[in-house]
Amino acid sequence: MLFYFYPMFRYQGDTLFWNGVPLVELLPRAAALLREEYSYSGAFWLYQQAILERRLQLLEQGLPGCRFYYSVKSQSNLALLRLIAAHPRFGADVVSGGELVRALRSGFPPEKIVFAGVGKTEEEIQLALAQRIRSLHVESIAELEEIAKFAKERKMAAAVSLRLNPDVEVDTHRHITTGKEENKFGLSEQDFHEALAILKDNAYLELVGLQAHIGSQIFAIEPYVATARFLASRQNETEATLGRPLQYISLGGGFGVDYRALDAEPGFDLAGLAQAIQGIFPTHTEIHFEPGRFISAPIGILATRVRHLKTRTGKAIAIVDAAMNDLIRPMLYEAYHPILPVVRRNHERNYDIVGPVCESTDTFAQSRVLSELREKDWLAIGYAGAYGSCMSSNFNSRPLIPELLLDSLGRLQVVRRPQTLEHMLSLELG
Ligand code: LLP
Repeated sequence: MLFYFYPMFRYQGDTLFWNGVPLVELLPRAAALLREEYSYSGAFWLYQQAILERRLQLLEQGLPGCRFYYSVKSQSNLALLRLIAAHPRFGADVVSGGELVRALRSGFPPEKIVFAGVGKTEEEIQLALAQRIRSLHVESIAELEEIAKFAKERKMAAAVSLRLNPDVEVDTHRHITTGKEENKFGLSEQDFHEALAILKDNAYLELVGLQAHIGSQIFAIEPYVATARFLASRQNETEATLGRPLQYISLGGGFGVDYRALDAEPGFDLAGLAQAIQGIFPTHTEIHFEPGRFISAPIGILATRVRHLKTRTGKAIAIVDAAMNDLIRPMLYEAYHPILPVVRRNHERNYDIVGPVCESTDTFAQSRVLSELREKDWLAIGYAGAYGSCMSSNFNSRPLIPELLLDSLGRLQVVRRPQTLEHMLSLELG
C-alpha cells in the first residue's frame, strides 16, 4: 500500500511550494510576525504540523503492532513534542535530564518514557527513578550497580533495559555509526553476561527489555534484521536465566531520510522492514523503535535571506543571514541539505552559500548550481527539522533564532521566541 507521495518541494511557475504551501507568501508573513512581536529580523526555523502528522502516520501504518519512542534529541521543541505525545503509540526516548523534563512537560506520561545515554549523572538517574519512567537503558555494569544502589535507598525496584552492542556494520557517516564493538555505546557480550548475573538476584532491579541502536541515516533493512536476530537470541538466554518474560525489545532508531528527494516525500522501506522482522520475536514481546530523523527532518526548513553577493573566478559567493551556529550539519557531517530559492530566475550560476561566522567552515554548500540570486532573496534550506535547532549554539555570540509552526489549520505561531542578547549575556559576570 502506498501512503505517499506529496511533493515536498516543487516549483509552480517560478515560486517554491513546500508541501503545497507557497513560501513566497508564507516567509514574508512569518518575517512580519517576528518583526511586529519581537522586533526581530533574521533567519528562522519553520515547521509544518501537516508533515509531522503524516510522518507519524507513515510509521503507525508501516510498522503495525510496533510502538515508537520518539528520539527527542532530534527535535525537542515543546510544541512539537506535545503534538507527538497526542499519538497513543508514541512515547519518548530521552538522553538527558533536560530531555526528560521536556518530555514530561509536553504530556508524555512517565510510563511512556525511556532514558538512554552512556553517561547519565546521579541527578538524572535519581530523577528517572523518582518519576518511575518506563525504563532506564543501561550502558555499563557500573551504571547498573549505581542504579541498584539508588533504587535500594528508595526501597523500589528500578525498571531497566540493557543496551547491547550487536557489532553490526552499517553504511553511514563515520560520526553517526554506533553499533560496532569498538564503539562507546552499549554492553559487550562479556558485560551482558555479568549484567545477567547481577540482575538474577537483585530485588532492586527489574529487567524489562533489551535494546540496540546501530546508527543513524540507515537505508538498508539487513542491519536491522541482523540486530533483531541478535536481540532475539539474547532474549532467549535472558528469559531462561531470569525465568520470566521480558516486556519489550527495542531496535533503536536510524531510519534514513533522502535529503536529495525533492519532488516526493523521503521514505524508508517501513513495510519491507516490518515483513523482514516478522516472526523473529515471540508474540508476547512488544517491539519498539526509536525514530528521530525520519519524523523530524522533513517537518522543518531553515528560512534565510541573501545579505550580499561576491564574485570569484568561476563562481559567486552568497552570504546569507543563517550560519553554522544555527545549522551545523553541513559543517560537522559534510551533510547535504537542499538549498532552494523561493523565487526562481531564468538562468543558473554556481554558488558557495556561506554564513557570516568568522571561519571558512561556515559554508552550507560549495559550488551549488542555483538559479541566479540577488540580495534579500529568500532561501529555504530543506529537511532541516532534525538535528537543526537542537544542535544550535551561541558561537560568535549569535543568539538562538526563533522557531515557528504552521499548524494544520494554516495558523502561524512562534513556538520558540528569538533569544535576546540580554538573555544570552545574563548568565555571565560582568
Ligand atoms: N536511539 C538512540 C539510542 C540514538 O542514539 C539515536 C540517535 C536515535 C535513537 C535516533 O536516531 P535517528 O532515528 O534520528 O537516526 N546529529 C546527527 C545524528 C546523531 C544521531 C544520534 N543518535 C545528524 O545530524 O545526522
